[in-house]
Amino acid sequence: MKLWGGRFAEDTDELVLKYTASISFDERLWPYDIKGSIAHARMLAQCGIISPAEGRQIIEGLENLAEDIAAGEVTFSLDDEDIHMNIERLLTERIGAVAGKLHTGRSRNDQVALDMHMFVRDAVSTVADAVKELQTALVRQAENHMDVIIPGFTHLQRAQPILLSHHLLAYVWMLERDKSRLSFVADEVDRMPLGAGALAGTTFPIDRKQVANELEFSSLYENSLDAVSDRDYLLDFLFAISTIMTHLSRLSEELILWSTEEFGWIELADEFATGSSMMPQKKNPDVPELVRGKSGRVFGHLMGMFTVLKGLPLAYNKDLQEDKEGVFDAIDTVIPALKLMAGSISTMRIREGRLADALACDFSNATDLADYLVRKGIPFRQAHAIVGQLVQLAILQGTNLNGLDLGTMQAAASVIESDVYELLQPETVVAARQSRGGTAPTAVQLQLALAKEQCGLE
Ligand code: ARG
Repeated sequence: MKLWGGRFAEDTDELVLKYTASISFDERLWPYDIKGSIAHARMLAQCGIISPAEGRQIIEGLENLAEDIAAGEVTFSLDDEDIHMNIERLLTERIGAVAGKLHTGRSRNDQVALDMHMFVRDAVSTVADAVKELQTALVRQAENHMDVIIPGFTHLQRAQPILLSHHLLAYVWMLERDKSRLSFVADEVDRMPLGAGALAGTTFPIDRKQVANELEFSSLYENSLDAVSDRDYLLDFLFAISTIMTHLSRLSEELILWSTEEFGWIELADEFATGSSMMPQKKNPDVPELVRGKSGRVFGHLMGMFTVLKGLPLAYNKDLQEDKEGVFDAIDTVIPALKLMAGSISTMRIREGRLADALACDFSNATDLADYLVRKGIPFRQAHAIVGQLVQLAILQGTNLNGLDLGTMQAAASVIESDVYELLQPETVVAARQSRGGTAPTAVQLQLALAKEQCGLE
């Protein structure tokens, strides 16, 4: 018989059973469900709602059950619908009717809310650790390539040369903000829902604070309706994960682009690339492509959660059972993505020769020539026009600014002297941008030190 079967004369239709059950996905909540039940049972005994002996029996039964589940010796059943009723049934099989006292003053509505709070609390810290792993990989590559210059882009057109380290560190800061978002979620989830009952509280003299203390929550939901129907912390978590996936997707796009033969800036390590079943020459960036592709499903889960919640009247509705699969899938998507990106970054080879060739023939030093003219007293707008004409001339001559002879340059602006060639070198261009947060090696050294300090890296 169903745990709730008392008022029913007929068995549940098979399709209804399958449709309403959540055990296939909520079974992963079992460690939290048992931990929450142990705290609840201890509180019931402490408050004299069950006897001390009953409390001990229930707690011991739950502890033994946890060991057996962890050892893989327990199978859950669809007939018991969800993880909460499965565990109560299994406990009953082990310790008998006294197990029936565990659910005193409690509903599955506040129980599942408690389980999800504890699950998310752990997941937040697992995700934050993986974020830090990727930050470490980026910082190490930045440190090891402080002298590598790459073309910097706007509109995906060559703009100004920058340090590769500067580019990599940009992602470290994005990820640092991701960690702030995760710690916001950790604060939001640090609120204990148990004790709300089904929706209105309970007639028993429970002590919610005791449960909160045992389970290490620092505050309580102060409204029982809110406690059982709040899923805001899941929206926050999905938003934080979506933002991480956005960052990973942008980084992926760059790895994909940079490893094309057309760019040729990096080569992914064999361990982090894949081949083609037909074309023997291929080395494909499947990992970053999948990370980029999988970002979509995470955004979908965020939208899905909003949609589940938007029309729901208070308090619990079965729709809320739909809160789980998206969250689980988002976590299962973001963790490997972070780890694989960390691996890809730390093992990629930087093709320094190709980068030097790329910089030797471009116009990404044009702003510096204009700034040079400004320092010689020419208004910037006029300097911009002069350099624009020199660029046009160089293109016609099949060269770049460095390739123009001094006479040609002086014909455009008589103030130009032979020191201009030194100024036009990529190293000089980069080194000149010493403003705070700029790309000069001195500024990037400072940035690197700040990043390491803020991320807590050695
Ligand atoms: N499996 C349910 C869920 O995930 C647990 C709560 C069910 N409560 C209820 N009254 N049917 O939401």
